Amino acid sequence: MTRCVVVGSGAREHALAWGLARGAEVVVTPGNPGIAAHGITCVETPATELEADLFVIGPELPLTQGLADELRAQGKAVVGPGRDGARLEASKAFMKAFLRDAGVPTAHFGVFDRPEEALDFLATMAPPYVIKTDGLAAGKGVLVTDDFDEACADVLEKLSGHAFGHAGKTIVIEEGLDGEECSLLVLCDGVRAAALAPAQDFKRVGDGDTGANTGGMGAYAPMASMSERDVDDVMTRIVEPTLAELRRRGIDFRGVLYAGVMMSSRGPQLLEYNVRFGDPETEALVPLYGDSLVSLLSAVATGTLGEVPATTGQCAVTVVLSAAGYPEDPRRGDVISGLGDDGQLALPREGVVVFHAGTRRDERGRFVTHGGRVLAVSAVADTLGAARERAYAACAAITFEGRVMRQDIARAASELGEP
Ligand code: AMP
Ligand code: GLY
Repeated sequence: MTRCVVVGSGAREHALAWGLARGAEVVVTPGNPGIAAHGITCVETPATELEADLFVIGPELPLTQGLADELRAQGKAVVGPGRDGARLEASKAFMKAFLRDAGVPTAHFGVFDRPEEALDFLATMAPPYVIKTDGLAAGKGVLVTDDFDEACADVLEKLSGHAFGHAGKTIVIEEGLDGEECSLLVLCDGVRAAALAPAQDFKRVGDGDTGANTGGMGAYAPMASMSERDVDDVMTRIVEPTLAELRRRGIDFRGVLYAGVMMSSRGPQLLEYNVRFGDPETEALVPLYGDSLVSLLSAVATGTLGEVPATTGQCAVTVVLSAAGYPEDPRRGDVISGLGDDGQLALPREGVVVFHAGTRRDERGRFVTHGGRVLAVSAVADTLGAARERAYAACAAITFEGRVMRQDIARAASELGEP
C-alpha cells in the first residue's frame, strides 16, 4: 500500500490525510489530537526522518523554509514547491514583479518601505484602498478600505514594523478591484497543470464580508458562477503565462498553485498566489474527489499528471468555527460540546465530517479550543443548498463559549439556485 506523510497540524491537513487514507497508509507530522482521534496516526518525528512514497506539505512556512528541497534531496516524491517557487507566496512584492514579467493581469500597484513615498502614492489612488504586508501574515495582513485616513494610518502602522514585524516592513499598495472572488487550486507537476473545481472562500470575520480579514471562515465548491469558459480563461490568461515564467526562471513547480482571482469587469485579475492547498477550500474540495487523491497527488509529485478526474458531482460547504476573540486575540481552553471520542459529531449526520484545526484534549479527555480557527465542519450533498443545510445543522450541534461562526457561507450562491 502507498505510504503518505502529510506535514502540518490544521484542518487542511486533517482533510488531506482523511482523503488520502481512503487509498493509502497515512502519517501526519505533527498533526493534532482531533486527527489522531479520527484514527489517523500522528507523530512528532520531523518529515525528513520519515520514510514514505509521497510527502504532502500543507502550510506555507515549511515550504518557504525549503522543506520540499530537503526532502527531494533525499530522493522523496513531494507535493509542494521548493523555496524558489514558494517565493510567489512568501513575498507579495516578488509576486507582483513576477506577474509583471509574466504578463499576468493584476491590480496596478506600488511597493514601498518609506512612509512619505507610500503616502504620496496612496494619494494618487481612488478608493477602495488596498494595503498589504509584503511577507507572510496568515491572511491577516491585508486592509481594504474606502476611508483614506484609515488607509494612511494603516500604511504608517505597517511600516513601523509593529503590526507584522519584519513581514510588514515592506508594503504593497494596490488598486482596489471589484467582482466575484474565486480560489482556483491548480495542480502542477512541473510541466502540466490541471485545475480542481473552483471554490470560494469567505475571508472576512463577519457576515456580509464585514470586519477583519482572517485565515478563512468558510468555503464552498464547486462555484457554479464560474463557467467552464471562465476557468479556461483563468488558465489561459493567468496560469499558463505563470508556468511559462516559472520555466523561464528555471523553477520546477510541483505542487498546488492556488490562484486567488477576482473576476472583474475587465476579465480575471490575479489577487494573489499561494503555493499550497487553501484553507478552508481544501476541506470543501477533498470530499468531492472520492478515492482519487492518492493517484492525483502522486502524479503531481512524480511529474506524471494527466487530467483531473471529475468530482463526485456533489457540492460541498465548509463552515469554520473559531474561538472567542478571533482573529485579534483568540481565547483558548473553552470546552467543546457535541463531539464524540473520535472527534466527530457525537450524533453522526449523513455527509458531514469535522476537521480539527485548533483543538486539544484536556485532562478529562474533552476537546477544548486551542487556536484561532478551531474546527472546519464540511458537508456534501447533491445540491449546494442541501450541503449548506447539513453543514449548519452539524455546526448547531457543536458549541463552545464565545464560538465565532459566519451564518452566510454559501448563502448567496445557494439562493441563486446553483446546483
Ligand atoms: P490577498 O491575501 O492578497 O488575497 O488579500 C486578501 C483579501 O483581500 C482578498 O481575498 C480580497 O478579498 C481582498 N483583496 C486583496 N486585494 C484586493 C484588491 N486589489 N481589490 C479588492 N480586494 C482585494
Ligand atoms: N483560504 C485562503 C488561504 O488558504 O490562504
